[in-house]
Amino acid sequence: MDGVLKFPEKFLWGTATSPTQVEGHVVNEWTDYLASDGGHCRTACNHYHRYEEDVDWMAQLGVNAYRMGIEWSRLQSAPFAPLNPKELDRYVHLLDCLKVKGITPMVVLHHFSNPPWITSAGGWLNPATIPAFVDYVTKLVSALRDRVWLWNTFNEPDTYASLTYLLGGFPPFHKWRFASYRKVIKHMAEAHVQASRVIRSEARGGNGAKAPEVGIAKNWTYFEAFQKFAVWDHLLALAAHYAFNHFVLDTFLGGRRCEASTYLGVNYYGRARLNHFQALVPTNGVSDERLNQLGIVCDDMFERHPSGFGPLLKKFQQRYRLPIYITEHGAASTNDDFRIRDLKQHLHELRGALDDGVDVRGFFYWSLLDNFEWQFGYSKKFGLLSVDFNDEKLPRKMTRVGEFYRSICAGRAEDSREVIPGLAAR
Ligand code: FCB
Repeated sequence: MDGVLKFPEKFLWGTATSPTQVEGHVVNEWTDYLASDGGHCRTACNHYHRYEEDVDWMAQLGVNAYRMGIEWSRLQSAPFAPLNPKELDRYVHLLDCLKVKGITPMVVLHHFSNPPWITSAGGWLNPATIPAFVDYVTKLVSALRDRVWLWNTFNEPDTYASLTYLLGGFPPFHKWRFASYRKVIKHMAEAHVQASRVIRSEARGGNGAKAPEVGIAKNWTYFEAFQKFAVWDHLLALAAHYAFNHFVLDTFLGGRRCEASTYLGVNYYGRARLNHFQALVPTNGVSDERLNQLGIVCDDMFERHPSGFGPLLKKFQQRYRLPIYITEHGAASTNDDFRIRDLKQHLHELRGALDDGVDVRGFFYWSLLDNFEWQFGYSKKFGLLSVDFNDEKLPRKMTRVGEFYRSICAGRAEDSREVIPGLAAR
């Protein structure tokens, strides 16, 4: 079919959320946190009570996969404690609802949140967190091994460690503690290796049909200097690249550690260009006018860089020789045309990478719902479904981006060659 963006038949077309951002009623370090828009996560989208309805929405979207977190703080009340049966049952029921609709779950074990007893003992700076996490994973995997074969240990360890200890954005809000940053990454990498061992030996996969898969989700940001001859900005970009990309990937996947993972998860939102030591992105307070003047295309958070996506996937394939899942990509904007264009551009790059032989097995759009976007509260609109947070019933509504994604999942979305100049010849 000419002009149709085609993907492999078994490709996973999914969407993603995380517990703190959608569930509500969580007790972790985010419970008392007030975001820049005054919002908090105590109710969020109330996915905790409304997951059945949300699974129906997923079925309407036609996705065949869902990347969901399981919230550690709900399941264990102390180190090495048994799992809370009521909370476990709720997740089991959610997994069963997904199964009825033919939706494959990818379960994330750590997405920026911890039980309070971990936080009060020093969080991921404390090496005792590693055996506590592995114990949790061992119990969870044994409880869910007939229902889950796709496991994601850590979501964006680099974002978590940098916002907690370098940039002061996430609790406990520390700044410039480089040694703490390194320690958190090293402890998480060790926990990943041990947890992966457990998952690969314990999990049988859905009814024994599928061998378990395990990996991390690495956020990738390109860091570049905005001006060609700005030496200090080039040096800062190199340092950021080293700390956030190279060091993290090397600690998780370098040497024999690579053998722990069966795939690499990639979260891709784009680029940060530096000008006089400032990142030219909206999350850094740079105004739309200024970004327009400079010709920098952004959503409400980051600079978009679709043409960097395909080359990145190729590089990962060559370097790590692991299958890849795009564990997150999305755009925040109230302009649906912008978001659809952005998605087409990235899918076009993804299709190109597949043509070039990169083994990408799935794509998870961030996010199913508008949700609690950490420091920015409810001001960033990432949902395939919008949520009206001013209405206490929190009604969901299909967006035009959701409709476009539905056509992708159904394999009938139009190709988008024209939207990226220079890519027409592919
Ligand atoms: C990623 C996070 C996810 C969400 C998106 C916008 O870094 O994993 O929770 O905040 O960004």
